[in-house]
Amino acid sequence: MKKNEGMTLLDIFLEHKGEFLSGEEISQRLSISRTAVWKQINKLRNAGYEFEAMPRLGYRLTEKPDPLDEDFLAACTKGRLFGQRIEVLPSTVSTQEDARKLAEAGAPEGTVVLAEEQTGGRGRMGKKFYSPFGKGIWMSLVLRPTQPLHLTQQLTLLTGVAVRRAILKATGVDTGIKWPNDLLIDGKKVCGILLESATEDDTVRYCIAGIGISVNLREDDYPDDLKQVASSLRMASGSNLNRNELICSILDELETLYDLYNDQGFEPIASLWESASVTLDREVSVHSSMGVLTGVAAGLHPSGALLVKNNTGELIPVFSGDIRLASSHENR
Ligand code: BTN
Repeated sequence: MKKNEGMTLLDIFLEHKGEFLSGEEISQRLSISRTAVWKQINKLRNAGYEFEAMPRLGYRLTEKPDPLDEDFLAACTKGRLFGQRIEVLPSTVSTQEDARKLAEAGAPEGTVVLAEEQTGGRGRMGKKFYSPFGKGIWMSLVLRPTQPLHLTQQLTLLTGVAVRRAILKATGVDTGIKWPNDLLIDGKKVCGILLESATEDDTVRYCIAGIGISVNLREDDYPDDLKQVASSLRMASGSNLNRNELICSILDELETLYDLYNDQGFEPIASLWESASVTLDREVSVHSSMGVLTGVAAGLHPSGALLVKNNTGELIPVFSGDIRLASSHENR
């Protein structure tokens, strides 16, 4: 291999796509020590590049990072309501908090905040939400609905349906919806949704729809306590997926269903939710501050609550709680 002035280690790997390059070859070409080669490879790994290392063969570049791309997102959402303003942050505590501040300052409906990582991502019922750097979609959207507060659950379900449809269209990966709106693959969670509302008296000032999708995580990326219950789109599809295209598809699908909801009400959304649900007709237990309710998930209440038929045949509407499905991994 000949020496090249001004080339970086990354240039060399990009030039030899798919090929193994030995530490010796690279060190000669860049006129640096083998230790320096190894350090530079680790630096690239920390920036999201992935290398396969093989004894005697050396290293092969297997994945490039796919950073969130504000220009791409601005172009693909041009002329639409959702995504009319997009903020991309390298790191934040929680995009819910950033979007809330923007909404308080008057940001319009359709404003989006995205982050490469969240250090304090939050989920439903006070749980933490794992949001590592560069591997997922951690996004919050400002909504300014006109519906009364007791119907905001419908928006939670709408968001789940929209994200499911976008994932299927953009990646071909099929997910099922667990009430209210977790997306599961083979019983493991790949997406969680958190809808938070700011109210005044009984009116909704704004809602923040938080969407967290595990896109390109590998099994090794999860802490031990999540390995049994969580999965990613990459683990299901076998290859890295383009996050920017998926975000674009989600915003598009959300706006389409939001328009449908504003025109025709909740019924068409409820039908879409029901046909994608993995909760209906299953035995469930509902864990909430009120205790534990067991029964069969029988359908949706017009408000978006889950109707659970208990052992006396009574239909109980469930407005919040942690649903556990009988015989499923997803029981956290
Ligand atoms: C859940 O599974 O309980 C809901 C998870 C919601 C996670 C998303 S990630 C973007 C936004 N920021 C947060 O802190 N949470 C939501």
